[in-house]
Amino acid sequence: MLTIRPAELDDAPTIARVHVDTWRSSYGGIIPQAYLDSMTEQNRTFVWVRLLERQGHELITLVSEDHNGRVVGFISAGPLRHRDARFQAEISSLYVARGFQRANHGRRLFMAAANRLAVKGLKGLFVWVLADNPSRDFYARLGGEPVSEATRSFAGKPVKELGYGWADVPRYD
Ligand SMILES: CC(C)(COP(=O)(O)OP(=O)(O)OC[C@H]1O[C@@H](n2cnc3c(N)ncnc32)[C@H](O)[C@@H]1OP(=O)(O)O)[C@@H](O)C(=O)NCCC(=O)NCCS
Repeated sequence: MLTIRPAELDDAPTIARVHVDTWRSSYGGIIPQAYLDSMTEQNRTFVWVRLLERQGHELITLVSEDHNGRVVGFISAGPLRHRDARFQAEISSLYVARGFQRANHGRRLFMAAANRLAVKGLKGLFVWVLADNPSRDFYARLGGEPVSEATRSFAGKPVKELGYGWADVPRYD
């Protein structure tokens, strides 16, 4: 049994912990260790407080809780952050803590966020994924198609990213 609900300001430290833990457990060997080491719960909490203050305006952040009410995953989505006429909405973060992956949290977070983006009238959905991230198949499973490529620098190392897109923001009953 899992629950999806809008994130509150008080969730910032927990979201930061899931964020940092998931990056460290998923991206070793893809993102330079120096970059992963520079991510701390403290600096991420600061970032998440600022992002959650924008909650409800342009940004949608939802958390998923396990059956004990513990936050184990989150998604953040809003307007596209770069120019691409095909898409207006973007998922900027989607992370599920390692021990809770493959138990539907990611899918339920995605569906709930997509429904909210569709209600806002945004057309077309986009997400960046590290090209070497095996989790990119999650987006393909949910109907996304590879639509673009980019290279981003992490601690001085160029890392390839793939953009997945949905021509229409999917809606779920
Ligand atoms: C990617 C992530 C968000 C998916 O969430 P999740 O809760 O583990 O996935 P779900 O259980 O909701 O899976 C939904 C579907 O995607 C599939 N899927 C999930 N992860 C997958 C993977 N790594 N490879 C292939 N398929 C995957 C599931 O099998 C399921 O398919 P089904 O319909 O056949 O049952 C989560 O695993 C995660 O946080 N991974 C590490 C960080 C990351 O890469 N985040 C994405 C950044 S862009």
